[in-house]
Amino acid sequence: MIAKQYNRYTVTAALPYANGPKHIGHLAGAYIPADVYVRYLRLTGNDVVFVCGSDEHGTAIPNQALKENTTPKAIIDKYDSLIRDCFGKLGMSFDIYHRTSETIHHQTSQEIFLTLYNKGLLTEEVSEQYFDDEAKVFLADRYIVGTCPKCGHTNAFGDQCEKCGSTLSPRELINPKSTLSGKAPVLKETKHWYLPLEKYEPWLRDWILKSHQQDWKPNVYGQCKSWIEAGLQPRAMTRDLDWGIKVPLPDAAGKVLYVWFDAPIGYISATRALFEEVATGNLKYATPHRNFTNVKPADWKKYWQAEDTRLIHFIGKDNIVFHCIIFPVMLHAAGEFIVPDNVPANEFMNLEGDKMSTSRGWSIEMHEYLADFPDKPDVLRYALLTNLPEAKDSEFTWKDFQAKNNNELVAILGNFVNRAVVLTQKYFDGVLPTRKALTDVDGKALAELKQYPALIGDSIETFRFREATANLMDLARVGNKYLAETEPWKLAKTDLDRVGTILNIALQIAGTLAIVSEPFLPFTSRKLKNILNVGDMTWSIAGNSDLIPAGAKLQEAPLLFEKIEDSVIDQQIKKLMDTKRAVELSQQPVEPAKAEISFDDFSKMDIRIGKILKAERVEKSKKLLKLQVDTGIDVRTVMSGIAEHFAPEDILGKQVTLLVNLAPRKIMGVESQGMILMASDKDGSLKLLSPSGDVVPGSQVS
Ligand code: MF3
Ligand code: ZN
Repeated sequence: MIAKQYNRYTVTAALPYANGPKHIGHLAGAYIPADVYVRYLRLTGNDVVFVCGSDEHGTAIPNQALKENTTPKAIIDKYDSLIRDCFGKLGMSFDIYHRTSETIHHQTSQEIFLTLYNKGLLTEEVSEQYFDDEAKVFLADRYIVGTCPKCGHTNAFGDQCEKCGSTLSPRELINPKSTLSGKAPVLKETKHWYLPLEKYEPWLRDWILKSHQQDWKPNVYGQCKSWIEAGLQPRAMTRDLDWGIKVPLPDAAGKVLYVWFDAPIGYISATRALFEEVATGNLKYATPHRNFTNVKPADWKKYWQAEDTRLIHFIGKDNIVFHCIIFPVMLHAAGEFIVPDNVPANEFMNLEGDKMSTSRGWSIEMHEYLADFPDKPDVLRYALLTNLPEAKDSEFTWKDFQAKNNNELVAILGNFVNRAVVLTQKYFDGVLPTRKALTDVDGKALAELKQYPALIGDSIETFRFREATANLMDLARVGNKYLAETEPWKLAKTDLDRVGTILNIALQIAGTLAIVSEPFLPFTSRKLKNILNVGDMTWSIAGNSDLIPAGAKLQEAPLLFEKIEDSVIDQQIKKLMDTKRAVELSQQPVEPAKAEISFDDFSKMDIRIGKILKAERVEKSKKLLKLQVDTGIDVRTVMSGIAEHFAPEDILGKQVTLLVNLAPRKIMGVESQGMILMASDKDGSLKLLSPSGDVVPGSQVS
């Protein structure tokens, strides 16, 4: 294959669904690698735009609205702003973070749909779909529940059984029910527009299987290959839904574009919006991280249509088919668009031995991390970067996070910079000393320094971000080792010139670290540049042995990193366990309702408030307490099986609810004359039912 020459880059990171907070697994999957890549491209003088934004359509949004008892619009506004804010605080350097609810995106999506339609490339098909006759809507897969045909689970969804993990279609469910009305859905005919993926198989084989065998990651290439080989099917590009982008055809009332049709087009609309905002100077969503001069709104086209533009999509593995097959087919079929040159998708990051999941309460949400560690965005970036799921699933643990901080960021990088700077303050008043005659050790250190930028750059260019991060830390190790070998602190009294030479070299290493750390640790890089009193520098001068000239005045040196104590980590682990437990409890189903009774049945029960006058344990019984209760009518004995939950002294004097006309029963030889009513929690704990204020014993409950 002839190597293509690229003159500009379009880099995208998957548009997160604005249906909830996003966790650190998302960061590790797409956003952090993308940001490292883009920052590196900018430092190496490339023309690049970096686009992202909220994915605000699909059933995920109305689903969440239902759960939170609010509107879809309120949901997208809430989570768009939460996610946007977190990304900002974590240093994601998007040139624009757009929204698919914006008009320009609706227009762009409809235009592309119409282009395909007008070229006759979409097929129309009428099929039968489940419809809720009461709610008068077609039911998306998630709105249908029924019995799983594979395992018999009675609460399987129309697309998946969460018990056995099978992928299902709604028609396979036994006894399907609509989650909206609870009624059985009916089949009703509906028309949709399909993209005939199978027609593009030869093109896909040629483009992916032939041309990208070498440069695409094996996990990505492998997935594409199995999709293509399994035989591609037509895929519906429209849905019956009232949330989304209207299908721009006259006979399509109540129909919207499929979310996976519009969302990737969001990259294009975001790019359009970027150039529009920059050209007009009216920045709404754009935060350009580069200088744009003489920009015209139409300049977006170069980034999506010029053959010398390199398009790269950063995503997680669940998005591969959409970015490697469906979206490229859309672009290719529409004509005039380029297709991605690479899609470096990552696998998943697990958490403390289990799959990360917001809904199961087993995750670290970005906003929660930031609330607990507001001044440590780089520590998270580093802990994730050293542990990216590049080739296979990886695992985040809080202990590892602590170790990466304490043993690497603090003990190696932070320690090196601090020693070099503090010694310069001490012996040279903070003024960078000149270099005199060089020894072998000096020469070796400078030679090593020179190699690192290319080493790190190569790893980044080939999407090996873990390796790049390791190389970065190795450069700090070079610095540490150099100081350990030369021991300048021992020479100050005898040979200040030598100390000057050593510190000069150490600070050249620090200077290069300030440049090459920028993609990975942007906040630290900024601090380091401030300490060294230098401005922004390009990658091309990194490794230079005269990066920072003698005579430069260093600034006061705050510590770059601080140690994280065990107690902080223990607390995070506890928080994780507590959240999971709370979610499990809240998700346990409550007992189904009992059969209906008449009012007469109910009024047969004589329920009253009584007061416990005496409570004692019963010999030979772990469970029973023997109670004397003032029922207002009389004082009677009640045997109650609550000894494992209450000590006698806990309930003495308490007002309780009591069924007084229950037929007496002998329990452990004692006649029990009534029953104390309790609420039993899902986890088995018992609570007394007491009136919210004191009432006279004997008051009736009705
Ligand atoms: N919202 C999707 C997800 O979170 C990703 C959309 S990527 C895009 O899985 F290309 F469609 F935008
Ligand atoms: Zn099942």
